[in-house]
Amino acid sequence: MGNQSINKPRGTLDLIGKNYWRYKQAIDILTENALNYGCTPIQVPVFEESGLFLRSVGKSSDIVRKQTFDLANKGSAKDYTLRPEFTAGIVRAVIENKLYASPDLPLRFVYSGTVYRYERPGTGRLREFRQFGVEFFDTKLDFSSQAEVLMMAYTGAKKILNRELLLTLNYLGGNQARANYKTALIDYFSKFIDHMCDDCKDRLKLNPLRILDCKVPEDQQLVKGAPKIENFLSDEDKAEFDSIKRVLQDSNIPIKVDDRLVRGLDYYTGTVFEIEDPQSPEFGAVGGGGKYAGLMEQLGGPNMEGIGFSYGVDRLLGAAKDAFQIHVATPDFFVMPMAKKRECQEKAFLLASKLRSLGYSAVTPTFSKGVGGAFKMADRLGCLKALLVNEDLSLEVKDLVQRSQTKITEEELLKRGK
Ligand code: HAM
Repeated sequence: MGNQSINKPRGTLDLIGKNYWRYKQAIDILTENALNYGCTPIQVPVFEESGLFLRSVGKSSDIVRKQTFDLANKGSAKDYTLRPEFTAGIVRAVIENKLYASPDLPLRFVYSGTVYRYERPGTGRLREFRQFGVEFFDTKLDFSSQAEVLMMAYTGAKKILNRELLLTLNYLGGNQARANYKTALIDYFSKFIDHMCDDCKDRLKLNPLRILDCKVPEDQQLVKGAPKIENFLSDEDKAEFDSIKRVLQDSNIPIKVDDRLVRGLDYYTGTVFEIEDPQSPEFGAVGGGGKYAGLMEQLGGPNMEGIGFSYGVDRLLGAAKDAFQIHVATPDFFVMPMAKKRECQEKAFLLASKLRSLGYSAVTPTFSKGVGGAFKMADRLGCLKALLVNEDLSLEVKDLVQRSQTKITEEELLKRGK
């Protein structure tokens, strides 16, 4: 019993070596892209009060209904939940830290980290996964900040996947349009609801818009005949959506309008969008986002609009496969004692640490192995040079590519460049 091994939880990943570098370098590239748009980095807690997600992501979302990781209550008066996404926590942070009072609008934030959803693990579906995203805030978000977010979502993903992607978007309308549209959907679906799936029955009460992206084939047939949002948009809504589409098209971003795209979180209003890699449909959307005009007020803040997106970084990298090339640094020096003598080994230790303090990377092998094994290790690590510490403590630099050797004094070694 006691000695049984313990495995990682289902739907989680260990990121080791090259795999870790893929994530780190992808996040670095995406962050640099976001910094080019003037974003400020933000980090929020991995867990928040459960009520935050209930009041934002929403009661009708699958995330809140079935997928939250709720933490055991240790006698505190509050319940906590692991974040299933970032937007709610960031809006909370903007309110709590009064960031909305800044005169420099829009506020632009970039973030990345792990999020948690209790889903059935499968291709592109993890329980702990990584998101990277941005959120913009303004009293009233103009079409330009909105188009910037969509553009950043597209260009960032393209930097990782190195190919054309599909940006699908829809416009859910302002408050009035959405309210009218919801009423029309309730009227329409009420006639069929007895024959629809249980989730749709709940959605009709909680958020009828969500019926539009039901995946059950029979329900999809009924959705085809449902009223269309475009017939409910005000002139102002239409003008905003048209401007966003126009500037994106003029920037050569291939967009496709899909009037059934509603997204699975309750807070969206106006623009919503998703990015897919047509070459890796098995991963689903590699990113998605949209505008949320009422969320900040709903969470106790001022009346400020937000828009943002998140990628699933695991999906981006899964879809990219070899299209995303990483750079793995190899050690500058492989420092090897050539004799199994303590003096020689101590010299190797001290030289390696001196090289490191000069800014080089230096690696030593385990001293228990022979010289042959150590050279093999140097090759596997991709080292170009070895520093040999001979039995008489003299030094040689061995070029591991040319296989040539040159004598060198310690003074020369520590003085010269790489
Ligand atoms: P979301 O669509 O729920 O939106 O998630 C964003 C992305 O996370 C998805 O497009 C997908 O790539 C990835 N993802 C979702 N679930 C999983 C999973 N189980 N395993 C791996 N990857 C997954 C949001 O989270 C919103 N907060 C986006 C947003 C930001 N909207 C406005 N601002």
